[in-house]
Amino acid sequence: MSSVSLTINGKPTTVNVDSATPLVWLLREHLQLTGTKFGCGIAQCGVCTVHVDGQATRSCVTPVSAVAGKSVTTIEGLSPDGSHKLQKAWVAEQVPQCGYCQSGQIMQAASLLAVNKNPSRDEIVKHMNGNICRCGTYQRIVKAVQRAAKEA
Ligand code: FES
Ligand code: FES
Repeated sequence: MSSVSLTINGKPTTVNVDSATPLVWLLREHLQLTGTKFGCGIAQCGVCTVHVDGQATRSCVTPVSAVAGKSVTTIEGLSPDGSHKLQKAWVAEQVPQCGYCQSGQIMQAASLLAVNKNPSRDEIVKHMNGNICRCGTYQRIVKAVQRAAKEA
């Protein structure tokens, strides 16, 4: 076990865990931030996506040791009250089906809009390419990102 300090959703946090613990389990099991999901565990599906210093990051393959001193944002911290423009667009476009992949989708999309306020359809599709949705909500995801971009 080791003591690791980092910032989670704007809050300085110190945790005592095995530093090889994947970030997704620190979030879900130690901090009860269960909006971040676990799927493949090998960086192939995107459901575990969070931001580390603003970069979309697969938390299933990111050990806690790699985020020491860094700032992690989860879906719970994207906005204080769920009113991020992407979250509103997701509701407006009724994107989710089962919902399991959606927090990862939104975090992935947020990392695009943070650096590109008006992405083309192709840029959206390319950026979202690694986030799998078994329910096939891809078309609505693209529409929601476009809607959110218009509200910027
Ligand atoms: S659970 Fe992390 S990418 Fe699939
Ligand atoms: S909404 Fe079901 S996996 Fe994406």
